[in-house]
Amino acid sequence: MSNTQNTMIMAQPDDWHLHLRDGNLLNNVLSFTAKQFARAVIMPNLSPPITKVDLALAYRDRIIQALAPLSSFNPLMTLYLTEDMPLSEVHKAKEMGILAFKMYPAGATTNSHSGIKDWRKIRKILESMQKNGILLLIHGEVVDEKVDVFSREEVFIETQLGPLRHEFPELKMVLEHITTEQAVEYVKTEGEYLAATITAHHLLYNRNALFKGGLQPHYYCLPILKGETHRQALLQAATSGNPKFFLGTDSAPHTQNRKECAFGCAGCFTAYHALALYAEAFESMDALKQLEGFASFFGADYYGLPRNTQTIMLRKVAHKVPEYIEVENERLIPLRANEWVHWQVV
Ligand code: NCD
Ligand code: ZN
Repeated sequence: MSNTQNTMIMAQPDDWHLHLRDGNLLNNVLSFTAKQFARAVIMPNLSPPITKVDLALAYRDRIIQALAPLSSFNPLMTLYLTEDMPLSEVHKAKEMGILAFKMYPAGATTNSHSGIKDWRKIRKILESMQKNGILLLIHGEVVDEKVDVFSREEVFIETQLGPLRHEFPELKMVLEHITTEQAVEYVKTEGEYLAATITAHHLLYNRNALFKGGLQPHYYCLPILKGETHRQALLQAATSGNPKFFLGTDSAPHTQNRKECAFGCAGCFTAYHALALYAEAFESMDALKQLEGFASFFGADYYGLPRNTQTIMLRKVAHKVPEYIEVENERLIPLRANEWVHWQVV
């Protein structure tokens, strides 16, 4: 990485947790990611979900179709774990180069209703994933209504993840989009088979953002933004140079009408300016030098993939985030719409 006061050249980053959706949305959001990132791990929570290798390969084709000509962006596909997934799917996934399966606790987030009620019901699948070196990506929240919404990650770690890791100690896992100091501590102290992704919005905002001047639906995501001490713990982890923490935007586009309504969807759309947001978070810690490891190296290392060799340049220039992005007859509202970001990919 080379650094002057106003520019920064670094190896091209990857996004290890991304929602691209399908159809019109896919066609309108993909270019933002493909301009910044070389690869991305594509979440399978479509409706219906991507539960089979064949569905994942067909979805991959649609993503490739939606790319600009000559783009070298590489989507890394995942499967959505269900309690009735046949064991043969693990072998097929291995054969077809699918690197990871995603576990959504049933009911935890957008399109998770066909997820996992009890991981003990998919022991055979987990065992085979462990044997075949397929990663387990985890949405780490309990769904119990009696558990406070701000404590669902912490309780998941205690009651679900602990026993799961005990039973499958060599199953490589990623605790996705961590949001709490408890998750940071847990990931730090567990061994080489556990890592975590961190979003830009959890590094930049605490839960006050949800209520600033009125209810703010575009800051509502799951896991929900937490208090300031948690945000500080995430900033420390991301900028520490510890390779167990790496970039995953969790950019999760929902159209304006599905965000600004009763029962609004969870998800922040950050693909538009993802890298600028991360740069801002790292700069706030005077840690821009650590950005390249977090964004471009540690994820690839953990997934066992080569690091990107091509580079990108970030420049420090203020840039106003548009009020919306047009998607056919609808609108997508990016995080921080109508406000400023301070970095730009050139
Ligand atoms: C994601 C979505 O909309 O698909 N929403 C979110 O708030 N992050 C699902 C998820 O990753 O939880
Ligand atoms: Zn997500």
